[in-house]
Amino acid sequence: MIIAIDGPAASGKGTLGKRLAAHYHFRHLDTGVIYRAVAKALIDAGADPADEARAVAAAHELDPEKFGHPALKTRAIGEAASVVSAFPGVREALLTFQRQFAAEPPGAVLDGRDIGTVICPNADVKIFVVADPVVRARRRTLEARSRGEDVDEAVVLADILKRDERDRNRPVAPLRAAADAHVLDNSNLDIEAGLMAAIAIVEAMKVARLHK
Ligand code: C5P
Repeated sequence: MIIAIDGPAASGKGTLGKRLAAHYHFRHLDTGVIYRAVAKALIDAGADPADEARAVAAAHELDPEKFGHPALKTRAIGEAASVVSAFPGVREALLTFQRQFAAEPPGAVLDGRDIGTVICPNADVKIFVVADPVVRARRRTLEARSRGEDVDEAVVLADILKRDERDRNRPVAPLRAAADAHVLDNSNLDIEAGLMAAIAIVEAMKVARLHK
């Protein structure tokens, strides 16, 4: 089974994906870290994230072993990831890795922006997570502070809105809900309640499949 979770920045899809995968004993891939890793490779090399040729080259040379690096989570890397991810050549270079990850048994949960629309259009379950931008900024600020990052909530909000805007309006694989996605509004749900809502969607899809 493949579960695709998409949604805007800091909507809670990463935490949800991880918890949902643990619940079903599936593997989990936070695809945002892939674009973040490309961005970090460029920044570490002193290159501009807007340099398309270098971004595409970095995407081809990506080492999945580095996806767990804590520095990938910073705001600056998230912003740069949103720049490199708009390049078609970068997305193309990362497609096979994501599809292979999704296809391996016993099942997988992938979260990102284009999982239900481009990476796994035939996913068994598609969930599109939304949340009020103010709530998202609050959560992201608390998260960053817990890592010891000194961040201002208003700056985090502006950053999230800018990133959403760029991700929604890019010509390649823009952020949008697939036609067959279930929208899950996470604004007023804590982690546990969000997980329960997602499990209810998955279970309903399983029942619907049995009656097909
Ligand atoms: O989800 P996260 O904030 O880690 O993603 C960082 C950036 O990577 C996003 O703003 C988006 O531009 C890009 N991304 C993407 N497609 C995905 C996942 C992330 O374009 N499937």
